[in-house]
Amino acid sequence: MTTDVLIRQAHILLPDGQMLLGDVLVKNGKIRDIASFIDTNIDDHGKVIDAEGLTLLPGVIDPQVHFREPGLEHKEDLFTASCACAKGGVTSFLEMPNTKPLTTTQSALNDKLERAAAKCLVNYGFFMGATAENLPDLRDANPSCGIKIFMGSSHGHLLVSTEEEIEPIFAEGSRLIAVHAEDQARINQRRQEFKGATNPAIHSQIQDKQAALNATKLALKLSKKYQRRLHILHLSTGEEAELLRQDKPSWVTTEVTPQHLLLNVSAYDKIGTLAQMNPPLRTEDDNAVLWQALQDGVIDFIATDHAPHTLEEKGKGYPQSPSGMPGVETSLALMLTQAKEGRCTYAQVANWMSTAPAKAYEIAQKGLIAPGYDADLVLVDLQEYRPVLREEIVSKCGWSPFEGWRLTGWPQYTLVGGQVVYEKGHIHTEVRGKALQFGISDNG
Ligand code: DOR
Repeated sequence: MTTDVLIRQAHILLPDGQMLLGDVLVKNGKIRDIASFIDTNIDDHGKVIDAEGLTLLPGVIDPQVHFREPGLEHKEDLFTASCACAKGGVTSFLEMPNTKPLTTTQSALNDKLERAAAKCLVNYGFFMGATAENLPDLRDANPSCGIKIFMGSSHGHLLVSTEEEIEPIFAEGSRLIAVHAEDQARINQRRQEFKGATNPAIHSQIQDKQAALNATKLALKLSKKYQRRLHILHLSTGEEAELLRQDKPSWVTTEVTPQHLLLNVSAYDKIGTLAQMNPPLRTEDDNAVLWQALQDGVIDFIATDHAPHTLEEKGKGYPQSPSGMPGVETSLALMLTQAKEGRCTYAQVANWMSTAPAKAYEIAQKGLIAPGYDADLVLVDLQEYRPVLREEIVSKCGWSPFEGWRLTGWPQYTLVGGQVVYEKGHIHTEVRGKALQFGISDNG
């Protein structure tokens, strides 16, 4: 049973981007009313949150995460990952198919949905993974947020890297295709050229900017040929952003990670293989061009690509160390800190992290604070600054690439469907999220 919640005297971010100092009433998991003062009594079963000094934002929808269950639970699982989400203000996530087994069939998708229903504290959706052979599953599997194609940086069945293999996927069906755009043939060739290299910084040279650009161009070409809904995952280079600035059909969207905005190749000197991800970190110039593209709407939204690996695995040394970084615990605070420092507005952050992903994946009644919308909400403190500390990381991997960064905008309360799932350092582990439904848009 969900209880009524009354949030008193928060700075509420309204859909028009304005802030209202006032109250929000939540009933049956939905936002019922928003006003400067709501004259109502909450009964003993309900909850009143004194939000004075806090800012209320729509809960974050993280549209690209790797939560490792089933099969890789030594790195993360749906319970630990969703605890990390609750702490970070992430109320919904879309998860990738590179688990064991791969999410390439309806039964694998069903298995994930069942696991998530049993143990996930926040709302969940799953991608179907493309192989060269599973076209019927890709067309029919439900509910799924879309098809993921690893054009590069994967192996085995989930690598679909040649135009001959990729084109039939664009030609068949109509659901969203999300691509990890790196040119595997180029990566293979460069791996040979750099054979023997053990400096992790070489990772950015092996999986270079050209590899990313080649694959993005191919995905765009096929999307245009079939007018197929395309989402380009984690854009990493200024060149791809400039390409999309010139030529981005209305049915194409793209995203960027906080890592690709805020970290660059200089991170290898500081944190070594912890900075290793795919697509790799680029230069300071790329950071700047990506920021501008985000500001200008060329890049539509933000995803973390939360891809946890253990410290032991990362400690194997390059190139044995796996690629990927965790992100759901820090993404909102990272971006709100940027806003606090004047680099963007709070309304832009909420658009990039909630409203725009809801729109792109056609998730109804999420991503805005408005009557009738789901009460997926986060109350953040924009006054205090606190550092990212390894000992406070909830993700099973137990580290962050942003350790030591002093951030503001840390969540104080997170609500999922009107249930308080995170409250000032305490995670309410009994809360459960719901399966997201896709293809129903209501926010323009
Ligand atoms: O660095 C990455 N690691 N990028 C991806 O897209 C996948 C990921 C993983 O699953 O570890």
